[in-house]
Amino acid sequence: MKYPCRIDKFISKAVGLPRSEAKKVIKAQRVQINQSIVTNAQTAVQASDQVLLDQQPLMAQQHVYYMLNKPQGYLSTEAEANYPSALSLLPNSPLQLHAAGRLDVDTTGLLLVTSDGQWSHRVTSPRADKVKQYRVSLADPITEAELQLLRDGLMLRGEQKPTKPAEVEQLDERLIVLRISEGRYHQVKRMCAAVGNKVLALHREQIGDIHLDSQLAAGEYRPLSPQEISCF
Ligand code: URA
Repeated sequence: MKYPCRIDKFISKAVGLPRSEAKKVIKAQRVQINQSIVTNAQTAVQASDQVLLDQQPLMAQQHVYYMLNKPQGYLSTEAEANYPSALSLLPNSPLQLHAAGRLDVDTTGLLLVTSDGQWSHRVTSPRADKVKQYRVSLADPITEAELQLLRDGLMLRGEQKPTKPAEVEQLDERLIVLRISEGRYHQVKRMCAAVGNKVLALHREQIGDIHLDSQLAAGEYRPLSPQEISCF
């Protein structure tokens, strides 16, 4: 909630009422700010004000922020015919949750989920230029020359501009850690395809300074800390 905030908006968010209903509640003299009845829906509320509805204190509804270790077989969007939504793994909320950035149905790992549209916009904005780190299992051994192509940036099929330089670390002949700062459609799979390889498993480990918590098994989640939230 941004302050100062109009009292009708505050009531609407705190109680989950449409704005028109919140206005009626105010008109009916059921709302007080710092012990004075308010009747004007435009009255400003400050963060330090005490707001009562029917004599009961109201708290501004805060946004929620989670990290989820997305399992395979879940969509990061709404459920579709054959696949459940990863959002169904989170607790029920009166707030509308959405994923801040997508993962393919077969990709596992760090999915950020929030009710805060402005925050998720900052996470996904191309201008944010935040690194996303993936652990990539490949079908075929990768050569030093192919690793260099991934590092330098390469042309993806059907696109006009090469990918931005990436950081690549090889852990095994078929296992790499790839750090990219863009978020093009199926980017990692297409980058690997562009060097003639195929992704067998893809796991996101990090977005910006937020790392997937190693305590979270597939399908588990936890709220983000205030420090993590403030990364974006
Ligand atoms: N790149 C992909 O190809 N898939 C993902 O899910 C994420 C990045």
